[in-house]
Amino acid sequence: MKLYAFYFSPTGGTKRVLDEVLTAWDCEKHLVDLADRAADLGGISFEKDDVCLAAVPSFSGRVPPFIPQKLEKVQGKGAKAVLIVSYGNRAFDDTMLELKGRLETSGFRCIAGLAAVTQHSIVTKYGAGRPDEADLAEIRGFAQKCAELLPLTENSVEVPGNEPYRPYHAIPMKPKADSRCTGCGLCARRCPVGAIPAEQPRTVDKSRCISCMQCVRLCPRQARHVSAVMLWVAERKLRAQCAGRKENNTYFAEQ
Ligand SMILES: Cc1cc2nc3c(=O)[nH]c(=O)nc-3n(C[C@H](O)[C@H](O)[C@H](O)COP(=O)(O)O)c2cc1C
Ligand code: SF4
Ligand code: SF4
Repeated sequence: MKLYAFYFSPTGGTKRVLDEVLTAWDCEKHLVDLADRAADLGGISFEKDDVCLAAVPSFSGRVPPFIPQKLEKVQGKGAKAVLIVSYGNRAFDDTMLELKGRLETSGFRCIAGLAAVTQHSIVTKYGAGRPDEADLAEIRGFAQKCAELLPLTENSVEVPGNEPYRPYHAIPMKPKADSRCTGCGLCARRCPVGAIPAEQPRTVDKSRCISCMQCVRLCPRQARHVSAVMLWVAERKLRAQCAGRKENNTYFAEQ
């Protein structure tokens, strides 16, 4: 049995959750970063007893826009899959249902799902410090239960969400670089959607940028940021919806 983990984690929260889930499996593991534009998912060959973990953040209550197209290339061939969604203490709406739909169309059987609260990657005061110790213990419990359930079920997990999926609302926050930028090009090479021109890395192609904040996190000079005014507006807009401590949610297929 081999395990493949496909993940997108522009600011690290989703990967933190995934790493904790991975501790439950003691087998050959392959991690695929979906932000890597060169990653060729079509070349991966699943067998029925392999397992797939798919981990993405919720963006506007949906799977980040370029991910479905990437996952389309994978052939599940009846292998079982575990769904992992991170969200920034607002809600994950249709994200898990959409991820499940995408994987099942590719021939996977989804047997469990975890929605884990992580720090909000744009307004970082929401979900700050998550996952914390209590979250990590819950995530390990989820992972253990998944590993045990895997050989015992051929059923598909029921997860929350609605079809048609809610419309995807792009966020009008597109990070640009200031005078601290040295033009090293790291952000351009690593942008998951190629929105930063290699020859002009201080700029951003607003029509391509998905506001994932990976370039903000990666820049060694802290040169990239979004408009402070926009950030203030977003903080106010999300205040009521992000208030209080939201829970992690777990879902399992029947045995
Ligand atoms: C463009 C964008 C949209 C987001 N939309 C939501 C949302 O609808 N609900 C929510 O709870 N968090 C939302 N978040 C927060 C992320 O889901 C959360 O911070 C997640 O942990 C980010 O994963 P990462 O740390 O792996 O980048 C959004 C973040 C971004 C960048
Ligand atoms: S990573 Fe930072 S310093 Fe390097 S090109 Fe991008 S903005 Fe400039
Ligand atoms: S330019 Fe946009 S899409 Fe590219 S890494 Fe930065 S925030 Fe993400």
